[in-house]
Amino acid sequence: MKYGHFDDKAREYVIDTPRTPYPWINYLGCEQFFGIISNTAGGYCFYRDARLRRVTRYRYNNMPVDNGGRYFYIKDGDTVWNPGWKPVKTELDSYSCRHGMGYTIITGQKNGLTASQLSFVPMGVNAEVHQMTLRNDSDAPKDVILTSFVEFCLWNAQDDMTNFQRNFSTGEVEVEGSVIYHKTEYRERRNHYAFYAVNTPVDGFDTDMETFLGLYNGFENPQAVFTGKMGNSIASGWQPMAAHQVKVSLVPGEERRFNFVLGYVEVPQAEKFVAPSVINKAPAKALLEKLTTDEQIAEAFNALKKHWDNLLSAYVLTTPDEKLGRMVNIWNPYQCMVTFNMSRSTSMFESGIGRGMGFRDSSQDLLGFVHQIPERARERILDIAATQFRDGGCYHQYQPLTKKGNNDIGGGFNDDPLWLIAGTAAYIKETGDFGILDAATPYDCNPDDCGTLLEHLEASFYHVVNNKGPHGLPLIGRADWNDCLNLNCFSDEPSESFQTFSNPNAPDERVAESVLIAGMFVAIGPDLVAILRRRGLDDKADACQKEIDAMNEAILRDGWDGEWFVRAYDAFGHKIGSKECEDGKIYIESQGYCVMGGVGVKDGKAEKALESVHKYLETKHGIVLLQPAYKEYHLELGEVSSYPPGYKENAGIFCHNNPWIIAAETVVGHGDRAFDLYSRIAPAYREEISDLHKMEPYVYSQMIAGKDAPNFGQAKNSWLTGTAAWNFYVISNYILGIKPDWEGLKVDPCIPHTWDGYQVSRRFRGATYAITIENPSHVCRGVKQVTVDGQAIEGNVLPVFADGKTHQVTVTLG
Ligand code: BGC
Ligand code: NOJ
Repeated sequence: MKYGHFDDKAREYVIDTPRTPYPWINYLGCEQFFGIISNTAGGYCFYRDARLRRVTRYRYNNMPVDNGGRYFYIKDGDTVWNPGWKPVKTELDSYSCRHGMGYTIITGQKNGLTASQLSFVPMGVNAEVHQMTLRNDSDAPKDVILTSFVEFCLWNAQDDMTNFQRNFSTGEVEVEGSVIYHKTEYRERRNHYAFYAVNTPVDGFDTDMETFLGLYNGFENPQAVFTGKMGNSIASGWQPMAAHQVKVSLVPGEERRFNFVLGYVEVPQAEKFVAPSVINKAPAKALLEKLTTDEQIAEAFNALKKHWDNLLSAYVLTTPDEKLGRMVNIWNPYQCMVTFNMSRSTSMFESGIGRGMGFRDSSQDLLGFVHQIPERARERILDIAATQFRDGGCYHQYQPLTKKGNNDIGGGFNDDPLWLIAGTAAYIKETGDFGILDAATPYDCNPDDCGTLLEHLEASFYHVVNNKGPHGLPLIGRADWNDCLNLNCFSDEPSESFQTFSNPNAPDERVAESVLIAGMFVAIGPDLVAILRRRGLDDKADACQKEIDAMNEAILRDGWDGEWFVRAYDAFGHKIGSKECEDGKIYIESQGYCVMGGVGVKDGKAEKALESVHKYLETKHGIVLLQPAYKEYHLELGEVSSYPPGYKENAGIFCHNNPWIIAAETVVGHGDRAFDLYSRIAPAYREEISDLHKMEPYVYSQMIAGKDAPNFGQAKNSWLTGTAAWNFYVISNYILGIKPDWEGLKVDPCIPHTWDGYQVSRRFRGATYAITIENPSHVCRGVKQVTVDGQAIEGNVLPVFADGKTHQVTVTLG
């Protein structure tokens, strides 16, 4: 069952009932000011850091789910309703929610009145615009009352939710004309405030929650709205909020727009006040001046659309498969940009107060957005690298506001260092900017202790080499990509973190090894070798290659189980992911990465491993992470065995590493298999089963419940997941086969043999490549001929033109 449809031309998903199986959300903001907004206008916003600079409050884990947001109430006679249905939930005559690129339009209709709420964050501005359009579609005049609503957060979202003994006494506001200023804590150490304004005189306002709602009411029945009488309250402590009341008369057919702006400003320390306790409103007024008239709003909205036109024009696929088209051209790259902005901070599953930016996560996210925003990818790489230590280890996370490594979580996740090589290689291949390798980059965030980025990459590589275990395989540390494989934790108390705890009675931490990290080393290491060779550092390159070869040997010797690759060795030296195990006999990760690294391709082990994935792990909803699921908690394995069977890392369908298998299938030339696996988890292909899938059909979720779970096929944790980057990477680079390489753009598709062909327009290093792929012999793989601007070329690497022109490329497979 579907709850809407894709409007590809408008690049929107159109939801046609507010009763979606879960709040289906969108993101506002692309620079510094961000928000999430659900299809019923729920959600919240913040400036840069969802934890430290939260502008509006959100009430998590609530009943009903998704409470609080940017609500507009309409009182038309005795009927009170919201264009987004919630929170009053008056039945609407019609409803739609259009989630687009950085904006959302929610439209409701009731008793001949249409109300439409456009929400977006203009480029270059730290504010959300909520433009409310009211239109009288009836044949009689209408007098209605429009009331806005937002609730302010007392800035630090963590503290806001917990420290009530203080917070209920700190809230402060000022009201001037139609602008409500939220100045809590501005009297002391903050030099920022927020405000909510409308471009018309108001008939009343409220800033104190209790006055607005009534002590015993919720958002669904605010007394000020139902009685039509605002309290004109000035909040003092408790819960500061902002509501404007506007009385509107509309003749039949008349339409009027009201431009609400929810903004954030910072004020220089010396200019904070204009009189005792009276805040300096000049920066807010300056911001509002730019966003008052309908023309200004329209212009700002257009600029946002242009911004997205530009980002999405970097890779454009023309294909007869419309589901594939909307994934590749619109929603997958959009989700990649959202992961760039948010990392793992803010969604319906991430509270914005938990994790900062992950070293591993952000490095992988790069794979998905580097072609859209190479300059910002460069900055991101250097930020990430600065949290690395001299020995190549690194902080697992850092805070976006401070860019400092997070001491609570610390380091010791031994896959982390390699992702930096992967991310940097993707960036250089995209841009040709080898210069980044010379950038002076701090160790441990200390500007007085720097190495070049190249030195950081070498440190990454040697961190693996210098930390091997008894089988010559990499030590796993706190965990590798699988955060839940905690082989050195031995936690027997629920309050202990699976990732950071080390039981003092646990065995030696230098025993547990990861075959995944070994596979990554063999797959990613060659990028460092290639970089060193291009730098003329052949001795170093040779030395690295030797290490890669040795690792390859170690995997074939001690990482092969007969039918598939072993996953790891535990702290006692026992195999994990082996036929010797009772549960967890086979894991997905080592199959994917070892084959991507080419391990066992020559002697058939790679094909064998992929057959085993097919046989034991594949389901109609995607590939589960392991089998059989762990039935009980294993002290020596940690969190992976903590989840009920079929969820998360315990045999859930982890959409993040399904693409590793897809990529591996292309390594051995299986184009049919690769695409089949791709389409099982790609959300657009699952739209018809939205009632089961539950999450948004336009973006990937981290996990789909596996076959061991009662609700097999149900997704969770949509939006902020490495799944976005990996699926874009695998479809664009491995299946459609347009791969940035060191010296140019390589074309090497691996597709279903049934495909006749497709076109890709790819922006690359200052030129556009209009590539037509033809498949007259219906093969899966193999480039027979390439012509560029009518001339046949040798090989399949398109040269770098950097001339700002469009070059016509024809590729014939066969
Ligand atoms: C989850 C992992 C996640 C980790 C982050 C675990 O509970 O299962 O998916 O990466 O927490 O710390
Ligand atoms: C989510 C985390 O963000 C990511 O870093 C990790 O690799 C996966 N979970 C798997 O555990």
